[in-house]
Amino acid sequence: MPYPYQITTPGAYQDAYQKSIDTPEKFWGEIAENFRWQKKWNEVLQWNFKEPRIEWFRGAKLNITENCLDRWVEKQPDTPAIIWEPNDPAEASRTLTYIELYEKVCQFAQVLRDNGAKRGDRICIYMPMVPELAIAILACARIGAIHSVVFGGFSSQSIADRIKDAQCNIVVTADGGFRGNKTIPLKEIVDDALATCPSVKKVIVLTRTGIPVSMMKDRDIWWEDEIEKIEKKGINEFEPEIMDAEDMLFILYTSGSTGKPKGVVHTCAGYMVWTHYTFVNVFQYQPGDIHFCTADIGWITGHSYIVYGPLSAGATSLMFEGVPTWPDAGRFWDIVNKHKVNILYTAPTAIRSLMGFGTKPIEGKNLQSIKVLGTVGEPINEEAWHWYDEYIGKKKCPIVDTWWQTETGGILISNLAGVTKSKPTYATLPLPGVQPVLVDEKGNIIEGNGVSGNLCIRFPWPGMLRTTYGDHERCRTTYFSTYENLYFTGDGCLRDEEGKYRITGRVDDVLNVSGHRIGTAELENAINMHTGVVESAIVGYPHDIKGQGIYAFVIFNAIHTDENHTRQDINQTVTKIIGAIAKPDKIQFVSGLPKTRSGKIMRRILRKIAEGELQNLGDTTTLLDPLVVDEIISNRL
Ligand code: WT7
Repeated sequence: MPYPYQITTPGAYQDAYQKSIDTPEKFWGEIAENFRWQKKWNEVLQWNFKEPRIEWFRGAKLNITENCLDRWVEKQPDTPAIIWEPNDPAEASRTLTYIELYEKVCQFAQVLRDNGAKRGDRICIYMPMVPELAIAILACARIGAIHSVVFGGFSSQSIADRIKDAQCNIVVTADGGFRGNKTIPLKEIVDDALATCPSVKKVIVLTRTGIPVSMMKDRDIWWEDEIEKIEKKGINEFEPEIMDAEDMLFILYTSGSTGKPKGVVHTCAGYMVWTHYTFVNVFQYQPGDIHFCTADIGWITGHSYIVYGPLSAGATSLMFEGVPTWPDAGRFWDIVNKHKVNILYTAPTAIRSLMGFGTKPIEGKNLQSIKVLGTVGEPINEEAWHWYDEYIGKKKCPIVDTWWQTETGGILISNLAGVTKSKPTYATLPLPGVQPVLVDEKGNIIEGNGVSGNLCIRFPWPGMLRTTYGDHERCRTTYFSTYENLYFTGDGCLRDEEGKYRITGRVDDVLNVSGHRIGTAELENAINMHTGVVESAIVGYPHDIKGQGIYAFVIFNAIHTDENHTRQDINQTVTKIIGAIAKPDKIQFVSGLPKTRSGKIMRRILRKIAEGELQNLGDTTTLLDPLVVDEIISNRL
């Protein structure tokens, strides 16, 4: 068996789970034996959730890229590591074998080194979904630099905030990126960001679209020119930097219920073991399988299940540059058909959007290669689950509903494809090593089955976050202080009579829009930047395709005679400050917001109004101005 720790029967799952609870250090120590280490650990685990301090495989030394590249180059150099499908189906796809990927990573590592990058430096990556994005990430890891990937849909302001927070000294980007029929001027967006980021000394620019860009002398250099220099020297190897197990591997920013996004930090050894173990077990990967995760590498799903999980397993990872609906709604199925995809991992929002096009786009597409389907990012509704099962899986493929978060590094709760049972809309069972508990408002643990509460985890797992960059206290207060000695996920959850888990959605002020996390406070701050805005309140409401839509209640001091004009103005501001993904779906102008006498916005009431649940608004008599509620209701959008 290629992966000795691959769980292939329900009994083996039970055994592994039990062992991971009874003797966690022994359990993970044995699994870790299957990786390449420069030096083994002295201790498997050291932890307390108070500070928090979490250390896995303390004393061990490694480079994650030796596990993702070198060991597979020795074993299977010609196996495809990355298959890349371009945005435009008329453009040729590309395949990089393990040896080819290895050489490109080593060459780019040398480019980074030659441009002053050192171990521990932070490098911002803002790129389209091309193989060079994966190459840049792995090259950072090779030299021991910490990558901070920023999703290509974020604005200059968002990039600048992230660069400043981490004090990045290098940015890797491209002239532009293709997404559907749009071209995104990535370099121009970076240029705007860098006007306020003096820490950045070098910008390395890949040519992707050929659109004109301005290159700043001594700062901006072309990827291709740099690689040419390296090739002329005949360099195609690069000695991996030997990292400590707990050295930072990367930072990934994510939104919370307050303030600016925080930089979630993952470290080398634990993250590697976790993404690998969950990849192999949840998807039941077999050598030769083509794994297609449709996420963007700018999100954690792409980090863990396009790059690190699959490559650490010597798998073939398919990377798609475009969008599911361009040139038409059959694009995913064309890709499955063309590349004989075996594992398809996508988001409920994509499924719902494709469902809307009916079954015509599927007709004539051979989907027989598919063995496993996966979903991630938000709760999947019954209807979407069954559509996925029937029309894509032809009722023959297990669906894994994988619950996890940026902070968890990899999947925590999911069925194992074809091994443990699925249940529509349920993530089902925790992976070995994961100890979920449900707690009530007071923080008491709710025992037994057929109960619901707030989802917490009571024991560390190797892939969990270690800190939030530059602000450990924020990590403690956000995740470890709500309930003593527990990691709080921010999700509500139900445990059925059989002990299976169903995640019901966020219980904090975080929205999940098309599987993307939007902090309501962050969005309100962005809207309030508009000169005309006096105050605003954001809530979510059920949306057929996005899961949640964004409903904005805005007090505006000089609304244009055409209200839509003002709405567009506000949307512009949001696009500038955060990015188009955070644009509200509805903007209602109000003269006041429902507030308590102490001035707190009663979001519960706004949420009900946005949801159209006007009957049970609860007690509104304690409000500062109860009449404002009537006005808001009568002008509801
Ligand atoms: C939040 C985390 C995990 C990678 C993508 C999102 C929600 C995620 C599921 C699922 C129900 C889910 C949760 C979680 N979520 N997966 N299978 N079922 N909800 O990562 O941006 O960090 O968001 O997404 O609410 O807290 P993220």
